[in-house]
Amino acid sequence: MEEKESIGVGLMGLGVVGGGVAKVLLERSDALARQAGCNLRLKKVLVRDADKPRSVTLDSSLITCDPQQILSDPDIGIVIEVMGGEQPALDYAKQALLGGKYVVTANKEVMAKYMAELLEMAAQEGVGILYEASVGGGIPLLLPLQEGLLANEIRAIYAIINGTTNYILTKMSSEGLSFGDALREAQQLGYAEADPSNDVEGTDALYKLAILASSAFHTTVRPDDIYCQGITSIGERDFRYAKELGYEIKLLAIAKKVGGSIEVRVHPAFVPTDYLLAKVDGVYNAVQIEGDLVGKVLFYGEGAGSSPTSSAIVANVIAAAKAIKRSEAMVTARRAVGAPAASVVGRLSNPAMTIKPMAEVETRYYLRMSIADRPGVLAQISGILGDRSISIASAIQKEADAVAQTAEIVLMTHPAREEFMQQALRDMERLPVVKEISNFIRVEG
Ligand code: NAP
Ligand code: HSE
Repeated sequence: MEEKESIGVGLMGLGVVGGGVAKVLLERSDALARQAGCNLRLKKVLVRDADKPRSVTLDSSLITCDPQQILSDPDIGIVIEVMGGEQPALDYAKQALLGGKYVVTANKEVMAKYMAELLEMAAQEGVGILYEASVGGGIPLLLPLQEGLLANEIRAIYAIINGTTNYILTKMSSEGLSFGDALREAQQLGYAEADPSNDVEGTDALYKLAILASSAFHTTVRPDDIYCQGITSIGERDFRYAKELGYEIKLLAIAKKVGGSIEVRVHPAFVPTDYLLAKVDGVYNAVQIEGDLVGKVLFYGEGAGSSPTSSAIVANVIAAAKAIKRSEAMVTARRAVGAPAASVVGRLSNPAMTIKPMAEVETRYYLRMSIADRPGVLAQISGILGDRSISIASAIQKEADAVAQTAEIVLMTHPAREEFMQQALRDMERLPVVKEISNFIRVEG
């Protein structure tokens, strides 16, 4: 058989994702070579602790704690960054690009914060940075936005894009597990971030939404533009009421065009049980994209974990290898005349868009509160809401505590402006008859 040429691959990180990627590169080398048109040779693997036991057995000569063994090796054409965190991952990605190497990364923090800069750098250097695994684990999302849906004006994205929180919410809703137990399970399964507060506080979903929205609207949507609330305040009673009212509770990431601006937000939401997104359980993610030509399309699959994430990363590695081979002749020719070579992924070409402040967003609300159980209390509450033009859609009262003389009420509102709801909440908190505002959750659909 004819000997194929090979491209050296450097892997930075050998944890949950890196371990899976190394396995795929080694165990499927023949099949991958057929797809890439060249051998993908794993040359070095960067870790912090060379003596740590690993899920994958590698020849010890491959392991290094010195990043320059990857970044300064001219035989390495593709660097896979799966270390996580902002630094030193960002510096290494930049060094790799400036050294003429393709970068494949699963790092949503780095991509969310520095996407425009890194794409520009890659384009200038005639290489590419590919980041499919940074959103939705194994689900192809960014390639469809960069290619198959390009003719559309994207109008909205509704997404469940954090596997850990979806796993926790599913276990709490269907099995009555406590928040802590469900989180521990998600960590054991390798879904959670190194710091799981990034998952449960919504930060991981926020980074992913910044990447998705930037890719969908072809402009920079920064993490700071996005309103974010996590799932830590959701209690067992909220699940009970959600079920009674015909909803599931999901951590939603939403980006939509409204007039000339865009709304971008991550927060828990009541989703009607007959909606597809309400049926997305466990570590599964789903992203509904609405384009003006295509209508609604739904992407669904495993959003975290070693194998699904490796699937996205290795696909990007193959794409990078093909691009290297395709562009070799062209790059040489263009560099000879001093022009920058073509990059594999485009820049964010649209002008900046106005971000709608959260205060101006309109949704419906679920409100759960503990109140004094005596005549006239509901009238005081509905008066405050009415003063802010917030209309009550339904009310249920339960669980009267005869000793404390309190009752729990749940209100569902019609659409209301966020700033008015926040003002009403503050006013209600001051009412002597309101013992506690236990939770308020936005309602979608
Ligand atoms: P992980 O299990 O914590 O693994 C991180 C790896 O990077 C470890 O091997 C660690 O080395 C190495 N590392 C970290 N900092 C380093 C440094 N400064 N120098 C050298 N090596 C360093 O993390 P993971 O779950 O695989 O996640 C990796 C990335 O993929 C993150 O960006 C994450 O957000 C993203 N991601 C994860 C998933 C998932 O399901 N886990 C899915 C999609 C995307 P040691 O082993 O020696 O400590
Ligand atoms: N911690 C992330 C999640 C990993 O739970 O979705 C995948 O990006």
